[in-house]
Amino acid sequence: MKILVTGGTGYIGSHTVVELLNSGYEVVVIDNLYNSKIEVVDKIKKITKKDFTFYKGDVCDKELLEEIFNKHKIDATIHFAGYKAVGESVEKPLMYYRNNIVSTLSLCETMSKHNVKNIVFSSSATVYGIPEILPIIEKLEIKHATNPYGETKIVNEKILKDLHISDNKWNVALLRYFNPIGAHPSGLIGENPNDIPNNLMPYIVKVATGELKELSVYGNDYDTPDGTGVRDYIHVVDLAKAHIKAIEWTFKNEGIDAFNIGTGHGYSVLEIVKAFEKVNKVKVPYKIAPRRKGDVASCYANSNYAKEKLDWTSTYEIDDMVKDAYNFAIKN
Ligand code: NAD
Ligand code: UD1
Repeated sequence: MKILVTGGTGYIGSHTVVELLNSGYEVVVIDNLYNSKIEVVDKIKKITKKDFTFYKGDVCDKELLEEIFNKHKIDATIHFAGYKAVGESVEKPLMYYRNNIVSTLSLCETMSKHNVKNIVFSSSATVYGIPEILPIIEKLEIKHATNPYGETKIVNEKILKDLHISDNKWNVALLRYFNPIGAHPSGLIGENPNDIPNNLMPYIVKVATGELKELSVYGNDYDTPDGTGVRDYIHVVDLAKAHIKAIEWTFKNEGIDAFNIGTGHGYSVLEIVKAFEKVNKVKVPYKIAPRRKGDVASCYANSNYAKEKLDWTSTYEIDDMVKDAYNFAIKN
């Protein structure tokens, strides 16, 4: 079986390529390296001791997709490629709508032409907007996200749903990720944003390594046990493994469905800081800052549906996540 992975040198994509190769799949990756580095290709090969084909190019480029589908007998695709910075999407909505939607249209049009109708799509808990109930279940109505990035995920889900309605041979797994953190235990691949990070774990890591002075904890007056925001952090290797299960599920011709991929446990910002300090024996200085606009108090998943339908469940604990995140940082 040959899987085309778009965005396969990115953070989640690279970990998924490792799991695909380890599970015996052949892999073709397309990535324009907008937010990742070419070295990742060799690092994946080093971890797995297996080879795969890499194309540097844009998923919006239908000529290149045509070339890839003519050259390789692709059985299914996993579509990670896209932009993901929430704040930037508010400033540059057109750039986000263009890249995140045109890439899906180009990919699906080419898949359709080549009669490849199995796809796993990277969606996000962000599609739930402000969660109405906790833990979040997939049945909640999807209305509005709180930013253009989130809207691109909702639109993509809609495109894929309409595609399935038009032709029920399409099998689509919409994976709604919660908060992926951590890195491959080898320390070879992980998350390494170039700019000042927006997300909690990369920020903590840069404070721990001394690159940044202190963490700002955005609010300690939320309705949570210690007043700081609560999220469902999931180890990126667990998340990568969910994609293998999702690919297998598409081959069972089950149509389209959405799955929450989280652990079901919420941790507060201060709990994460404390776990990081304890496990890595390093200080993470922090100060309490005002709430960040658009943040919700708590967000965590009910992932029972993924367990039932995909036979997937998370295995890594929070201590593994903070250990692997720091291990990657000090090795790189
Ligand atoms: P990432 O930025 O590390 O990886 C995305 C990859 O796609 C990058 O390597 C980038 O170079 C590539 N890319 C972007 N546009 C492209 C294009 N038009 N053509 C070819 N390559 C392109 O991001 P990630 O954290 O690995 O996220 C992967 C997917 O998961 C994204 O769709 C993201 O929105 C989604 N997601 C991520 C998170 C998260 O917290 N990381 C949470 C929910 C959903
Ligand atoms: C972010 C994205 C969301 C995406 C999710 C998973 C935003 C606004 N939302 O959500 O679309 O689906 O990641 O990747 O970016 N925090 C601090 N100090 C910091 C950074 C964060 O206190 O410097 C707090 C936040 O207030 C929050 C928690 O840490 O309570 C997690 O924040 P973050 O990692 O940015 O993730 P989300 O806000 O859940």
